[in-house]
Amino acid sequence: MSLILAIESSCDDTSAAVLRESEILSNVVYNQAAHKIYGGVVPELASREHIQKIVQVIDHALKEAKVSKNDLNAIAVTRGPGLLGSLIVGVGFAKSLSQSLEIPLIEVQHTQAHVLSNLSNEQPPSFPFLCLTVSGGHTQIVKVESPSKLEILGKTIDDAAGEAFDKAGKMLNLPYPAGPEIDKLAKLGTPKYSFSKSKVGDYDYSFSGFKTSVLYFLRDQLKENENFIEENLNDLCASIQSNICEVLMQKYEKAAINEGITNLCLAGGVSANSGLRQLFQETCEKNGWKSHIPDFKLCTDNAGMIGIAAYYKYLNNDFSDLDLTPDARMQF
Ligand code: KG4
Ligand code: ZN
Repeated sequence: MSLILAIESSCDDTSAAVLRESEILSNVVYNQAAHKIYGGVVPELASREHIQKIVQVIDHALKEAKVSKNDLNAIAVTRGPGLLGSLIVGVGFAKSLSQSLEIPLIEVQHTQAHVLSNLSNEQPPSFPFLCLTVSGGHTQIVKVESPSKLEILGKTIDDAAGEAFDKAGKMLNLPYPAGPEIDKLAKLGTPKYSFSKSKVGDYDYSFSGFKTSVLYFLRDQLKENENFIEENLNDLCASIQSNICEVLMQKYEKAAINEGITNLCLAGGVSANSGLRQLFQETCEKNGWKSHIPDFKLCTDNAGMIGIAAYYKYLNNDFSDLDLTPDARMQF
């Protein structure tokens, strides 16, 4: 039986989790509020906050799981991708713990962990499955044949889906991160405005044309009526949300049809979006596919998902050396 302590520090969440085999016993997430006033994540601030919080967060996770650090069998950590300064904190800490406790170190690729978080669902997807990972940093369609065989079929060539929500929200003067607020207001509006949809090929995404189209639309409307945003906020949110979700699902559906895969998952912070969930479920029902979405706590950045990915590496004795370095642009 394995007890794994997992650490995640790739962006603005300091998180630690303890897993018994693949069961998450604790999953503590400290979300850094310090960035809010800057309208985005400030890398230097993020690494400082990680340093200040990491000991507390790990202690908390061990206590909640009722596990002593001496009982641990391995330390797992996000190696990348992410902010270099933030990754250095987690990787450095994990290496010292692994060395002092004389237990193996397991490196985890962050976006693979988002995908594999689906394996902890009550009814996990069967292999092969597809996952659409949509977060503030990533948008990927991934084909999963086993926990160690993952392939990216498509990805964004510029902004991530979460960034598209956040940047469009900023144009509407909504606070960062705007995704959850757009979701809330969209429920009160009608998607009556349409914006430019990406024309990039295959299963790739692009949100730069969409962003420019929202910007120019608002600029033109504001010339006519300076209160246009305030007076139409709910409809604008509903339109932005439906535009992003339709684009996301169109390519995802095409990938599933062409690959002949019938188990489909969502992952990442944007999978909390009610419009995307609904469209995802409708699309799966229409095609007779099985749909899977992890628990909300496992959708946003958290160490629980790092622990799940690490557990499968543990089973394969896939360990890292102590000269491990963070990799800000780590690929699959
Ligand atoms: O996965 P996550 O917590 O962190 C990253 O790895 O980026 O995702 C954060 C992103 C932000 O862009 C946020 O606006 C978006 O997820 N988000 C949402 C919702 N909840 C979070 N976007 C749309 N609707 C939501 N309900
Ligand atoms: Zn993430």
